[in-house]
Amino acid sequence: MIYDDEKQHDRSLDARTNEAVKELTSLLGESRLLLDQSSFERFGVDRSPGWTARPCAIALPENTLEVQSIVQIARRHSLGIVPSGGRTGLCGGAVAAAGELVVALDRMNRVMDVDPADRSVTVQAGMITAQLQTLAAEKGWFYPVDFASSGSSQIGGNIATNAGGIRVIRYGMTRAQISGIVAVDGRGEILGLNRGLAKNNTGPDFRHLFVGSEGIFGIITEATVQLLPAPGPSKVMLFALQGFPAILRLLSEFSNSLEINAFEFLSHNALERVTARLAASSPVAPAPFYALVEFEPATEADEERAVSIFEQGLERGEIVDAVLAGSEAQARAIWRLRESISETLSPWKPWKNDISVRVGRLGAFIERASALVAEGDDELELVWYGHIGDGNIHLNILKPDRLSAEEFAERCSPVAKGFAMLLQEFGGSVSAEHGIGLLKRDYLKYSRSEAEISALRAIKGIFDPDGIMNPGKLLPGP
Ligand code: MLT
Ligand code: ZN
Repeated sequence: MIYDDEKQHDRSLDARTNEAVKELTSLLGESRLLLDQSSFERFGVDRSPGWTARPCAIALPENTLEVQSIVQIARRHSLGIVPSGGRTGLCGGAVAAAGELVVALDRMNRVMDVDPADRSVTVQAGMITAQLQTLAAEKGWFYPVDFASSGSSQIGGNIATNAGGIRVIRYGMTRAQISGIVAVDGRGEILGLNRGLAKNNTGPDFRHLFVGSEGIFGIITEATVQLLPAPGPSKVMLFALQGFPAILRLLSEFSNSLEINAFEFLSHNALERVTARLAASSPVAPAPFYALVEFEPATEADEERAVSIFEQGLERGEIVDAVLAGSEAQARAIWRLRESISETLSPWKPWKNDISVRVGRLGAFIERASALVAEGDDELELVWYGHIGDGNIHLNILKPDRLSAEEFAERCSPVAKGFAMLLQEFGGSVSAEHGIGLLKRDYLKYSRSEAEISALRAIKGIFDPDGIMNPGKLLPGP
């Protein structure tokens, strides 16, 4: 009987999907509604491992009005929608594994407006982040958000996940650069949020609700991006350090006296694995940890100050070695070591932790976190790295070959849960930059209160009354 009911349900789902696909084909034409398996596999997952792509179709709209029509069709047929940008996410936020319609923004990459008076550009949401950086540079301006996947991620996805990256310490996250958003919500309404205004005091700013919303309210279709004057030349140093306390002292010395663009850290095994993969040698002597510091010296005295921080640390025995890049090429080579970590580790299908606490609490947190991890499992290799200047630490646990994905998840989850509980105690975040998606829904409650989560659910109900927008993402099950 149950079997028959299920079949009945499947049949009605198929009939609804087929009807929606027919209407979508007449809206977009066959070339922009993809129904083949290889497109499903390409567009139905992101960079997090372990998902099977099972979308019902891939829609490729070219403008906001088409997105609106797509949402209206999906809503009429109760079809879930997964908004899809560059699919570089690491939490399953862009995964379509349950027959959803993927709305991919790849064809929406046009520049809509350049405004020299405001130093802003308005672009469609499918613009690749690196193209936006280039566009800004061509005008003599600067788009500061940058990270390893900026060559494939899209600005709409950056906004939906409030992407961070390497320069947050100086410029903030994506949110800080966005002065306007156009989105189509789950009702099929087009919302023009803040329209690029610098000052707009007309009540709560819905633009900020859409930043970091992970597609659960609607699809971002356009963004007005506030650009900055081009920065001055920067210097890059790589330090080899004895331990976390040495990194934290270095961070406070640099941030108290110099303009820092980035302050990143790598553990020894992270550097070892990256240099092996790139067939490169380390520019500094071996040490338990390394810090990559990029700063913008205003005068020669600033550069001397950086060198004297190094000399004093060396004398105290906290710093083992350091190198100051003498050219652009050397600076790029040092950055490459940091930026290649994620890709280097991906063959081990790591269990990723992307966490943060306030910088002032880092010392105490790291001590407790290290003790927690040390109590764990000897067979698991831990790789630490991250944007420590922002209080953001990535801990990757590598999967031993002999363990299946399920066995590995079982072994890792006590560490992940222990981390989440420790973060709750420290008032930290279970996701500093990667987001919640499908992967971290069960941990959301350690960083957001029950009252906040129920308010979020209620807000989703307003923008998306039928629950069609990115179903199952971000919010824990009822
Ligand atoms: C990084 O900092 O490299 C990125 O957030 C990606 C990652 O954590 O693997
Ligand atoms: Zn990161």
